[in-house]
Amino acid sequence: MADKAILTVGDQKIELPILEGTEGDRALDITKLRDQTGVVTFDPSLGNTSLCRSAITFIDGEQGVLRYRGIPIEQFTVKPNFVEAAWMLIFGRLPKREELVRFSNLLTENELLHEGVKHQFQHIPPDAPPMAILSATLSHLACYHQELLALEDEESLEAAAARLISKVRTIAAFSYRRSLGLPVNYPDPHLRYCANFLHMMFSLPYQQYIVTREVEDALNLMFILHADHEQNCSTSTVRIVGSAKANLFASCAAAVCALWGPLHGGANVEVMEMLQRIHDGGLSPEDCIREAKDKTNPFRLYGFGHRVYRNYDPRAKILKEACDKVFHQLKRKDPLLDIARKLEELALADPYFVDRRLYPNVDFYSGILLRAMGIPTNMFTVCFAIGRLPGWIAHWKEQHDDPSTKILRPRQIYTGQPKTDYTPLEKR
Ligand code: CMC
Repeated sequence: MADKAILTVGDQKIELPILEGTEGDRALDITKLRDQTGVVTFDPSLGNTSLCRSAITFIDGEQGVLRYRGIPIEQFTVKPNFVEAAWMLIFGRLPKREELVRFSNLLTENELLHEGVKHQFQHIPPDAPPMAILSATLSHLACYHQELLALEDEESLEAAAARLISKVRTIAAFSYRRSLGLPVNYPDPHLRYCANFLHMMFSLPYQQYIVTREVEDALNLMFILHADHEQNCSTSTVRIVGSAKANLFASCAAAVCALWGPLHGGANVEVMEMLQRIHDGGLSPEDCIREAKDKTNPFRLYGFGHRVYRNYDPRAKILKEACDKVFHQLKRKDPLLDIARKLEELALADPYFVDRRLYPNVDFYSGILLRAMGIPTNMFTVCFAIGRLPGWIAHWKEQHDDPSTKILRPRQIYTGQPKTDYTPLEKR
């Protein structure tokens, strides 16, 4: 295969090297384009632009393939737990037993919040959006861990990662308790990662929440499936913010803001609202599909479509099966699951969705699973963020460790006024 391309700009011909990834991805290297020709490229949504080289996650959007550090996502449904997957994403290989034990201990040691951070919750309105609280509090953590703002070695990176991955659960659960006016539950060091989160969310002073194995496994699966997804909007945000040498806490806080958007992580909330509207009789599944296809209507079929997948999102496939399994294990039914299945069936038989190759994405079934665990809708995107945090940290580290990294600074095509003179106020 050719290792360079020839580009003609006016009467100039230049050679552009073609870079190749380990799985055969090919990219034109245009880093010298402007210097050599004076022109830049135009790719406003970056759909054709590789932001970096990365060894963390591989996606084949045509085939519906997703791998973390080379391991197919399907293999994570049986064995590893979230903490193991998190360490692997960040440090590049599966941890040895002693490494996993050390990291788990670090998580336990760091699960509490400084009382100063805890008191901040008293000043937040009870109905505040949990994603706003999460972003603000992650940023706020920087005040308490100033020794970790400059991460110059692997050990301090691990310490910062452990603080973030551990405390994010506590922050999430405290914000939920605040929204209900309930006292916070301190973490229980004897519980595993997911069980501890559920305990902090749901235990009452007079009644310990007993976490069943089924629910703990389902939450573990949820977090793993969300743990990384290469250069998505929030992860690119981490890279952009981190490229200015901003610290890890600030970079992850910025990523939470990006994830909040309804076209990104916020889609899981939109899906539930859509399913609930259909359930309440405000909309039939057929009308929902009709509205999603109507170009004069901003409504979309939430949980469908993806910038990279032109096939079934493998995470959606796993989550759909997990819903069936968990509802069977818990001997429960959810009418929203039946509605989701019906919507999927209608969409996958409709030429609009078929022609555009729009399939269910990770957000289509995740909310139904979270709902089965008793997680309220306004915490869905927060759960996505808890899951995605290892991925954000892994990308921040990968970029930070790469000596060739420069500040990310795109170009633009200026379409404003040509040079104009200032008009004094009285003459306007
Ligand atoms: N409902 C209706 N039409 C859609 C949808 C949808 N969910 N998704 C894409 N389209 C249409 C889009 O309008 C365009 O139509 P046309 O060619 O006539 O202009 C066509 O399909 C191609 O869209 P695209 O260029 O592939 O979309 P994109 O890459 O700009 O956007 C997306 C990707 C995920 C933002 C979009 O599919 C969407 O808005 N989906 C609904 C929101 C959602 O579920 N987001 C979660 C994404 S996965 C997890 C995550 O990233 O957080």
